[in-house]
Amino acid sequence: MQIFKYKDYEEMSKAAAAFVIREMIKKPDLILGLATGDTPIRLYQNLIKAYQDYIISFKEVKTFNLDEYVGIDANNPQSYHYFMDNHLFKHIDILPENINIPANDPDDMEKSAEEYNKKMFGNQRDLQILGIGKNGHIGFNEPGTQLGNMTFIVKLDEETRIDNSRFFGSLEEVPTHAITMGIKNIMYSKKILLLASGKSKAKAIYKTAYGPVNDITPSSILQLHPDVTIIVDEDAASLLNMEGNFLEF
Ligand code: PGA
Repeated sequence: MQIFKYKDYEEMSKAAAAFVIREMIKKPDLILGLATGDTPIRLYQNLIKAYQDYIISFKEVKTFNLDEYVGIDANNPQSYHYFMDNHLFKHIDILPENINIPANDPDDMEKSAEEYNKKMFGNQRDLQILGIGKNGHIGFNEPGTQLGNMTFIVKLDEETRIDNSRFFGSLEEVPTHAITMGIKNIMYSKKILLLASGKSKAKAIYKTAYGPVNDITPSSILQLHPDVTIIVDEDAASLLNMEGNFLEF
């Protein structure tokens, strides 16, 4: 595990973009795992800029998103389908058939999960981008998750619903369930890039780096992955024992 610390959100987003761009240049048909949330928004803006500047193309790239809420339509501005379109896909040259996001058909969620696992089979991600919840969730793998899970339907943690209610009118409107890649799917990616910004993430980052590996902090399992890079700003790194801007375990 390597941890790189940057001054603030702007700087860490630039570094994260440089990391992703390097992978895309090395392998133009990259299979890329994507995350939603506030944290990767500036990274996506930097990737759009690199595309507009002809530095990268998404023509051969395939993407797989981590998760989606259950029971809200893809056209709903709160859905992750909408988020991805708005923050990345509609601005780049990705082919629609290369975009993969778990389907959120509330009538047959088990089938949606099974189909998503099938799609990922034979499409091992080269790089998975992750955010992290205050409670250490990655994707929607909440504390207490089964570490051997593939894509599954999860009941959201109350803390997660409260955190995410800022995007909705009220807490009641936040879905109670989501479909998410399981820890097993995440760990199967060749490389992982985790991003965190802000003081509210400092505890989760501390536990990710130093904590015991257990289901209480799902991100701690990343200690067992052979190729994880964590890019954080000073606030998110504030509990780490760092003399310089780099830590390696
Ligand atoms: P955030 O969410 O980027 O909006 O903080 C991250 C997450 O919950 O995984």
